[in-house]
Amino acid sequence: MTKLSVNINKIATIRNARGGDQPNVLKAAIDCERFGAQGITVHPRSDERHIRYQDTQDIKPAIGVEFNIEGNPVPSFIDLVLEVKPHQVTLVPDSPDAITSNAGWDTIKNECFLKEVIAEFKTHGIRTSIFIETNEKMILNAVKTGADRIELYTESYADNFHKNKETAINPFIAAAKLANEIGLGINAGHDLNLDNLNYFAKNIPGLLEVSIGHALISDALYLGLENTIQMYLRKLKAN
Ligand code: PXP
Repeated sequence: MTKLSVNINKIATIRNARGGDQPNVLKAAIDCERFGAQGITVHPRSDERHIRYQDTQDIKPAIGVEFNIEGNPVPSFIDLVLEVKPHQVTLVPDSPDAITSNAGWDTIKNECFLKEVIAEFKTHGIRTSIFIETNEKMILNAVKTGADRIELYTESYADNFHKNKETAINPFIAAAKLANEIGLGINAGHDLNLDNLNYFAKNIPGLLEVSIGHALISDALYLGLENTIQMYLRKLKAN
């Protein structure tokens, strides 16, 4: 079965809005595991606008499931990952001001750089994955970087799912078959949600892991809203 890794960056975004410690990000990571998540993902950026470097250090020893740190391998990120030693690092070529990841690696242009960074992570026993689009050449060249896995960037699948789900998924099936043939493990993420997840998971051969943040945390807020309002009303009735 495909593993679900919950990206908890959005929880840190809410915490940071008030500057205090509510909601507590560490507790959220521990509770996601308690509620069944098979992995926790964080995406620290150098401006620490969501997850802070300190959160990343605090979470690793507190959870038992797979810890995945994703981000652009700038020097401060590399140092953090080598210090924390997560089970997996996912390399993403996002610029510091990007709202969210918006492209996969060009594994041809960045082959030497990725090879060097990936070799360093692997000497420390950290599994490596690189964020990538479905382009055949980029996948073929991903092998040369030494990455263990690729993470398929699923935004185009999610965008096109409601127009035509077969057309939306076909490039991902082809990419996954190729990755399987050349020995790359397959993860996936970005804009996966309760509508499009099942069709993706059942059609992608060898899908090892999905990481989901925005939709999952938004759903959690909404699905918990009724219960929470009732709890507040009960506090008022109790007077
Ligand atoms: N994978 C990567 C590399 C990402 O940057 C993100 C967003 O932080 C995700 C997966 C999860 O995307 P979403 O928040 O849309 O579920």
